[in-house]
Amino acid sequence: MMPAWARTIRFQVALSLGLMFAALAGSAGYGLYALNLRQHDYEILNLSGQLRVTSAAMISDARTHLQDPGSSAPSSERERAMYVERLRRHMALYDQIISSFVARRLDPELTGRSDALVCNWDSQSRSQLQRSSDDWRLFRTELVRRLGAGDQGPQAAAAAAYLADNGDRLARSSSELSRAFQLMMERKASALRLFDEVVLVAAAVTMLSLLALLYRRMVKPLRDTLSGFSRVARGDLGHQVPVQGAGEIRQMTTAFNQLSERLNSLFRLTDRITHGNTLDETLRFVLEEFRAFLPLDWVGVFFPSPDGERLVLERQYGDHGTALREGVSLPRSAVDLNPDAPATIDDIAARDAQDPSGACAAMLSEAGLGSAMLLRTQGDGTGALLVFASRTPRAYLPEHAELLTNVAGQVTHALDKTVFMEGLVVSAVQGLAKLAESRDPETGDHLARIALYAALLAEELGRSGPYAGDITAAYVRAIHQFAPMHDIGKVGLGDDILRKPGPLTAAERLEMQRHPVIGAEVLRRCESQVNARGYSIFGMAIDIAEGHHERFDGTGYPARRSGKAIPLAARIVAVADVFDALTSRRPYKDAWPVDKALATLELLSGQHLDPDVLAAFFRALPRILDVHDRFKANAVDRVAASAATAEAVPETAAQLSTASA
Ligand SMILES: [Fe+2]
Ligand SMILES: [Fe+2]
Repeated sequence: MMPAWARTIRFQVALSLGLMFAALAGSAGYGLYALNLRQHDYEILNLSGQLRVTSAAMISDARTHLQDPGSSAPSSERERAMYVERLRRHMALYDQIISSFVARRLDPELTGRSDALVCNWDSQSRSQLQRSSDDWRLFRTELVRRLGAGDQGPQAAAAAAYLADNGDRLARSSSELSRAFQLMMERKASALRLFDEVVLVAAAVTMLSLLALLYRRMVKPLRDTLSGFSRVARGDLGHQVPVQGAGEIRQMTTAFNQLSERLNSLFRLTDRITHGNTLDETLRFVLEEFRAFLPLDWVGVFFPSPDGERLVLERQYGDHGTALREGVSLPRSAVDLNPDAPATIDDIAARDAQDPSGACAAMLSEAGLGSAMLLRTQGDGTGALLVFASRTPRAYLPEHAELLTNVAGQVTHALDKTVFMEGLVVSAVQGLAKLAESRDPETGDHLARIALYAALLAEELGRSGPYAGDITAAYVRAIHQFAPMHDIGKVGLGDDILRKPGPLTAAERLEMQRHPVIGAEVLRRCESQVNARGYSIFGMAIDIAEGHHERFDGTGYPARRSGKAIPLAARIVAVADVFDALTSRRPYKDAWPVDKALATLELLSGQHLDPDVLAAFFRALPRILDVHDRFKANAVDRVAASAATAEAVPETAAQLSTASA
């Protein structure tokens, strides 16, 4: 594994430059060396050439001397002396060159250079040198013997004759030496050429590998990143470049990918939160999408109470184990913040209850949270407080606050829109439910009770059993909202059937059994109206209205569906409806005691009612009975005020029908 510093561009560039400098210096040094070597060889060749020239000169001098006819004339005396002197000079030069070669040291006086040259002979040159030197020694000895000490005519003639007869041997010997040196130098030159070629190939390979490395580690990653930049610039947000290279290039690519991913998330975030059609959806999107940017374990939204004094927790979304009690509230003064500028509580546990955000911190510590960011939105309809929190203390950095500031506008807009829509839906639902209630003699508090029973049942189903984890807080809220609409179809029935005191005839019963179909039809029309505006609101209400008289064994109406083919919301409402029908007074029967009603419910398990839902009903029984008892007490109270109620109901119905007309 390469250490990190070795992967940085500055190191790699420095290394490449260093290698290039070393190669240049090496090649210059090598050039100098080769030049020096050539000069050296030239000196040796020159000297060995001089041997040849000297031997040739001695021979030709000798032959000229012997051919001289008047060797006794006085002029010839002088010429003979000159001949002898020349011969001695030639012998001295030859001797000096040969002994220098043997000693492997060429003195400056021979080469004319400032320093002595040291020579190396290969084996062939060395043996030839040995032979030539031996030849010379013998030749010289004989020559010296014949020449004697003086320069008398006979001695000079004897030496010349010896040279003329045997000089060719000396000439051959010096030629062979010169040839041996030449061959040695050619061998050396071809070795040098081979070395040159090898070095050239090695340099080319090194250069190519260096280029390939540069391309792979720098040029290509840079080019890919550049094309990534232009793709992002063209709007392909989230485009990821393959992370290649090392060091700074790798860091740059990684940073680019993060930037691209963040841009994409930011874009998706604003897109999703502005497309949320319900408050729940919008807040769920906020939680899901903000996670990419913030440490986030819990999101809560507080709305002002009707009197504007307090901020009440309306919705919260958090991971398992992070939840506040429903309906907790804060005095408005405790979170006196600038709108659209988030405030951070860096350490919830350390926050003193006395300081301004202490009340908020104390509340959040209940859910096991460590730090939080608070954002006041200044919407037309909301002015809500959004709380983003993490379990970790000091999880939020200034850049997180900056991000929130940037998207606060979008969040406010999205909240406004969904709060407004939800308000509209809730009042429409309440209006419709009350409209149905006003014409139905079986009511009393039937609708209020059934809403609570269904909500408790759904909550219990979400806790354990086959639906555990599937049922969300939003589902529970929705079923609480829509269960009262189960009999909405009864608005389409005539008073003759709806208010008939006695038992119904078969034909009347068939007419009565049309109410689920009528209800679903009415709600479908509402749904298609809101669908046209991009919302979906009544899905569950349709399921409930249509399916609440289906039976688990398939003997119900209108579609004779069975088991799981009946929507879960309808199966839940069926249990709530039957229990409430049994325990309430109706024109044709008294209210049954709870024990008797429960025994009957048990008999209906798997026939009329879903056994899983019924099991949840029995698990939730204590809380269901609380509701039952509370309404029973209310009913007793209300007997006294029945006259006022009797007048109030038609009045409300009249207002509603005017409003919906
Ligand atoms: Fe019904
Ligand atoms: Fe009912």
